[in-house]
Amino acid sequence: MNPLNHVAIIMDGNGRWGLKYKNSRNSGHKAGLNVVEKIIKETIKHKIKFLTLYAFSTENWKRPKKEINYLFNLLETFLTNKIDELNKQNIKLKIIGVKKFTYKLNKLLDLSEKKTYQNKKLQINLALNYGSKFELMNAFKNLCKKKEKFNEKNLYKYFQTKNIPDPDLLIRTGNTKRLSNFLLWQLAYSEIYFEKKLWPDFNEKDYNKILKNYKKIKRNFGNI
Ligand code: FPP
Repeated sequence: MNPLNHVAIIMDGNGRWGLKYKNSRNSGHKAGLNVVEKIIKETIKHKIKFLTLYAFSTENWKRPKKEINYLFNLLETFLTNKIDELNKQNIKLKIIGVKKFTYKLNKLLDLSEKKTYQNKKLQINLALNYGSKFELMNAFKNLCKKKEKFNEKNLYKYFQTKNIPDPDLLIRTGNTKRLSNFLLWQLAYSEIYFEKKLWPDFNEKDYNKILKNYKKIKRNFGNI
């Protein structure tokens, strides 16, 4: 059976769900957050060590200000209310992406990371203002600046995902088949599962089905 150490998820479809059922994209984000909580619990049950969630891309800044503000307020409320609970559950929170938000949110993110730094059960990597092309360019620039030898090991040192193993499995909900500038290097050998359901409709049963299928796949990483 395939070991499963790291699951990455592109949680797509909130906006469409919100418009369809409540006539507001933002209500889709709210519903999406409930699914995040369920999937965290299920990930722990499966003893998976890393869960990476794409919550806000560098391209998402193109959205209307009202939606952006709603998303960050949702995150702020979530962390304010839940960080102690996550900490008690031995969950470590790590932000990947560039922390360029309001002073208040930056501080809250720093504090949440600091509080949970030692935790070991599950590491949640929350991708916020994350873009893989930026991450790669930045890593290459650093290698050049420091005049270091060009190799994978040195490049990884400058990734925001340094010390995080590459995902074994990527799930994208929302019936769209693309990577959207997410972990382009790190996903080189990941198994990819495109799920038709919109993120707020995704549930534990769907997740378990994908994990079960993943375990049956023969991964040979280019070998035979
Ligand atoms: C993509 O759906 C989803 C996002 C850009 C935001 C993801 C946020 C959540 C799941 C909830 C908040 C999470 C945290 C951790 C606070 P979309 O809006 O692009 O959907 P669409 O393709 O239907 O427009």
